[in-house]
Amino acid sequence: MRAAAIQTYPMRRALYPGSFDPVTNGHLDVIERAARIFDEVVVTVAYNEEKSGLFTFPERMHLLEKTVERHPNVRVSQFEGLLVNYARSVEASVIIRGLRAISDFEYEFQMALMNRKLDSEIETMFLMPKEEYTYISSRLVKEIARLGGDIEAFVPDCIARALKEKFSRKKVIGVEAPND
Ligand code: PNS
Repeated sequence: MRAAAIQTYPMRRALYPGSFDPVTNGHLDVIERAARIFDEVVVTVAYNEEKSGLFTFPERMHLLEKTVERHPNVRVSQFEGLLVNYARSVEASVIIRGLRAISDFEYEFQMALMNRKLDSEIETMFLMPKEEYTYISSRLVKEIARLGGDIEAFVPDCIARALKEKFSRKKVIGVEAPND
């Protein structure tokens, strides 16, 4: 009797790019949704030397790694240059972006179509975070933390601690933090 052929499928890998300065509960919700759909999700931090943030690039990577450590099929990486080139280099066929509100749509739509023009084999997939996270953004979270507000409901615990530490240190040395 002949053994039944084993059907193998290529791994479905998705790329979730962003600035993640810092990662919020909204981002984490999108990561978890993507991790349930794909075999592997690569959360990738965009390196842009013209855009300095509150957290340094290595700090963002480290905080993301801590945030996703309990998800076995999620890993963190970094990239520089064109996103579609990076997607191809890691054999990711899908780019994930979170859509919170109509206000996100125009920018996201433009970026998705441009990426498709650059590489027609890479699809962009939009995922909506839980409604309760739709008003959260890294920018607002940083502003609230800078002004001493409570940010625990908006970010993972390790990020809340890192934000508090960052702003208490900045207060001590008297440096204003960038807000974007
Ligand atoms: O979290 P953000 O800042 O909204 O992420 C934007 C990001 C990093 C995904 C976008 O700026 C990007 O893809 N940059 C890489 C350069 C690139 O490929 N640009 C062309 C996009 S159409």
